[in-house]
Amino acid sequence: MQIYKVGGAVRDRLLGKPVTDIDWVVVGATTEEMLAKGFRPVGADFPVFLHPKSGEEYALARTERKSGRGYGGFTFHASPEVTLEEDLIRRDLTINAMAEDDQQNLTDPYHGQRDLEARLLRHISPAFAEDPLRVLRVARFAARYAGLGFSVAPETLELMRQLSESGELEALTAERSWKEISRALMEDQPQVFIEVLRECGALKVLMPEVDALFGVPQPEAHHPEIDTGVHTLSVLEQAAKHKQPLTVRWACLLHDLGKGLTPEEEWPRHIAHEHKGLKLIKAVNERFKAPKDCQELALLVGEYHTHGHRALELKPSTLLELLQSFDVYRRPQRFEEFIAACEMDARGRKGLEQRSYPQAEYLRGAANAARTVAVQPLLEKGFKGPELGEAIKRERLKALKAYKEAAAA
Ligand code: CTP
Repeated sequence: MQIYKVGGAVRDRLLGKPVTDIDWVVVGATTEEMLAKGFRPVGADFPVFLHPKSGEEYALARTERKSGRGYGGFTFHASPEVTLEEDLIRRDLTINAMAEDDQQNLTDPYHGQRDLEARLLRHISPAFAEDPLRVLRVARFAARYAGLGFSVAPETLELMRQLSESGELEALTAERSWKEISRALMEDQPQVFIEVLRECGALKVLMPEVDALFGVPQPEAHHPEIDTGVHTLSVLEQAAKHKQPLTVRWACLLHDLGKGLTPEEEWPRHIAHEHKGLKLIKAVNERFKAPKDCQELALLVGEYHTHGHRALELKPSTLLELLQSFDVYRRPQRFEEFIAACEMDARGRKGLEQRSYPQAEYLRGAANAARTVAVQPLLEKGFKGPELGEAIKRERLKALKAYKEAAAA
């Protein structure tokens, strides 16, 4: 049997990027031989094994043929006769279809190295279309390697467009899509992921609520970039520049969905877009079964981001409601993430990327002021049940009034 390193590990080594996981392909072997060498099978009927020591994935060389819709709708054929070239041709991109032996000799039948040099994400063959997830994968790689100057080859974009129009994307499971989306959002240029999906028509299928923001104007005084879609991309770009976590990036992507619902007669104003957007945010959250912390933050940021921007003008009672809604007493981290998302929203505007955001410190200070209210003395005064709750609120309101006055002085 011959063993080769394949896929991302070869690509990233040639790009001079760190390699984290290594995938191997084994040519000329049978399942029985693998088991005899101590490899552990991954699934009952899939020719993939884990190395007994390193735990890395070793797959028998295989060919694949599509036999139905969606994931799982294909049959594969693994046998010792399948060649390395046959295994490589079923893969997605030329740059992902190179193999390397233990002497670092490269097998590159589909010119991956040429495309690495040309900075092109190019599909290998029409078999690309056999797995619609690849549309998301290509957009994710575009986001990851945009900084190196990569773009999607025009013929690949065209194929992605056909796939998006074919209805195949609808067959993707929430779990597989979310895995790609969440990884893409954590790349250096996540806005490129959304741009590429939009360009090939996949955004309209996957997240029509985000797609609908393009072409919707906002008032130029606050949004020199005017277009709501362009603004959303800039917010995401800022979130990545500031190394924000996934929760914040997800909230940034969804914060303005309500603006897509504004009747054209009301443009460029978007009255109550925060509240109107909530049902859309909920729908996108549920469509991809986003993790609970992402779902929660997206909804809270959607509802309260303008409160964040107006923090210094808010009445103490409104400030208190905001803090209560976030349960800042038990969930301080979530409030920090809200503040971060608001700041990214403020900076994700043309020419305003470097602006200061004093609201952040002010909101932090307000949360601290409300937190200083001690419960013990109120218990000692005999408050309990709902009355205790009311008494705590009164004390917090007092603390916030004092805080606001001190800040204004
Ligand atoms: N692959 C594919 N189509 C898919 C998934 C994977 O053709 N839908 C192939 C590609 O050749 C890829 C390899 O399987 O390089 C390994 O896949 P994976 O580990 O998911 O991705 P990597 O390319 O290693 O990329 P990453 O760095 O993002 O993990």
